[in-house]
Amino acid sequence: SASLPQGYQLRALRRTDFNSGFLDCLRVLTTVGDISEEKFQKQYDNMVAREDYYIIVIEDTNREKNSVVATGALIVEHKFIHSLGKVGHIEDIAVSKDQQGKKLGLRLIQALDFVAEKIGCYKSILDCSDANEGFYVKCGFRRAGLQMAHYY
Ligand code: ACO
Repeated sequence: SASLPQGYQLRALRRTDFNSGFLDCLRVLTTVGDISEEKFQKQYDNMVAREDYYIIVIEDTNREKNSVVATGALIVEHKFIHSLGKVGHIEDIAVSKDQQGKKLGLRLIQALDFVAEKIGCYKSILDCSDANEGFYVKCGFRRAGLQMAHYY
């Protein structure tokens, strides 16, 4: 598996990551909105209590501020089919703009895939744009089906 650049570390998201660069990372993906620290922590506590959310970050420990440069999540879905099977959903993969192309995205997917397999998921799935298909193919995924959405 690919290694990380010198001083970069992959770790779980922490309750103290409000000002770490984590939310800025997500802004490369979509609108994050104006979240207070209190609400961030409440959401974090809800997710941790569920035990089915694995949110990871890559931190550049050479930096004093905004050291989180990439993030990704695995959400585990529990099923009745496939003998009470579990499916991993890979979500919100984001590498900050100036850090793209250093294999950080690949490392995130490898880490989330490792967790999914280890906890017994029979597959992991994700939705992405056509523009990102090549990235996920390089991560070992293949096109399967078609996404439908109903926005509210
Ligand atoms: N199309 C084709 N190949 C790509 C693409 C792409 N869009 N992006 C990267 N690759 C290739 C790289 O060239 C590399 O190939 P190589 O091994 O032959 O050199 C390989 O995929 C791994 O690339 P990384 O360096 O790990 O890619 P990066 O760290 O830049 O992460 C990512 C890719 C996550 C798409 C990043 O560019 C990003 O954050 N983009 C903006 C946000 C986004 O679109 N996120 C994904 C949303 S989908 C979801 O969350 C489920």
